[in-house]
Amino acid sequence: MAPREIVVRVNGEEYRGSAEPRVTLVDFLRDELGLTGTHVGCEHGVCGACTILMDGRTVRSCLMLAVQAEGHELRTVEGLAPADGPLHPIQEAFSEKHGLQCGFCTPGFLMTVEELLRDDPDPSEETIRSRLSGNICRCTGYQNIVEAVRYAAELTREAAP
Ligand code: FES
Ligand code: FES
Repeated sequence: MAPREIVVRVNGEEYRGSAEPRVTLVDFLRDELGLTGTHVGCEHGVCGACTILMDGRTVRSCLMLAVQAEGHELRTVEGLAPADGPLHPIQEAFSEKHGLQCGFCTPGFLMTVEELLRDDPDPSEETIRSRLSGNICRCTGYQNIVEAVRYAAELTREAAP
């Protein structure tokens, strides 16, 4: 089918691109907009690597079509912190607590944690494990990720006005 023009706001900026109606949102972000921080793992909604925020809530960008994002506000991992600025507290915490090894799953985890900490600034371990259960990491064994989320919560609370 013929490509359609798509206008979305990503990380506060308006982007225009075009995609055939069958193109997934993650492919549009990566291939058309050049935002390659969002990773593609399973491509069928299981691993969570492609998690981004749409209108503030997590979505799996491999399960959405680019045309469905038209007119919505998206946030990707590139929007967490300026490229030349300090890390976002969640990034800082993952780095400090060794919440990653190969890093393939990390963008998806970071966006899921961003949503979690907005919903619950002081989550229990049970809540953290439950909310992260849709993100798969084959390297870390999860314990350091849980510790990173606790530390991220601490840093975020400290930074709150
Ligand atoms: S790539 Fe989207 S859930 Fe795995
Ligand atoms: S750090 Fe390698 S998959 Fe999570």
